[in-house]
Amino acid sequence: MLNIGHRGAAGEAPENTLASFLLAIKQGATAIELDVHVSADGEIVVCHDATIDRTTDSRGAIADLTVEQLKQADAGRWFNKAFTNERIPLLGEVFDAMPVDFPINVEIKSNKHPQVVQKLIALMQNKARTNSVIVSSFGYEVLYALKRAEPEIRIGLLYDKPIDYRALAEWNKVKLYSLHPHYKLVNHDYAKDVIAQGYMLYPWTIDNEVRMKELIENQVSGIITNFPGRLNQLLVASDQ
Ligand code: G3P
Ligand code: MG
Repeated sequence: MLNIGHRGAAGEAPENTLASFLLAIKQGATAIELDVHVSADGEIVVCHDATIDRTTDSRGAIADLTVEQLKQADAGRWFNKAFTNERIPLLGEVFDAMPVDFPINVEIKSNKHPQVVQKLIALMQNKARTNSVIVSSFGYEVLYALKRAEPEIRIGLLYDKPIDYRALAEWNKVKLYSLHPHYKLVNHDYAKDVIAQGYMLYPWTIDNEVRMKELIENQVSGIITNFPGRLNQLLVASDQ
């Protein structure tokens, strides 16, 4: 069962920074989840929101800022001054900082679809990441565009309302690798059925120990959490 650090170890470090990803690994994460947008000069940038207002000491939309401008922002101090000087990472920098086979869940937030599809495929190929990345999104279109352009890529669908996942695969003729439901949609029968249908199941975002234990018992494929250290202790105790 994967222990997937949400935005790294976002409960204890500034989300979506290298410090957060490295802390997640130190705490026992066996995968990380991160969010991406495209900068004004066409680079894939790791950040949750479309603007840098909430998670840095600067302001502006990522789509309007160049990498040089984005790199001037401090992405750590807002969280805790111990993280002063953390920078917004490029996706390529995260790939370089993690072992090449370390699983990374890249969630596409950007709506610049054609650009993000081409850039992401090129980056994954250049960094030999095709087999260690799962690309997820709440948008079907970008996932299917990716899969059509590069059939090797593993795609996962995010959702927070019930969906008919069997019908989805039929209509689109493109096989999803994984389903990423909000955790409230998942119970024992749901997990069993999704996995019997041949999908990996990665619910999000679970920080509560009781819910973590239930999902471990329900044998989901992985749990996305802001506290990978907490989940690691439960996984060790349950021998998973
Ligand atoms: O990938 C799971 C989760 O990250 C989806 O929601 O808003 O935290 O990116 P959000
Ligand atoms: Mg996310």
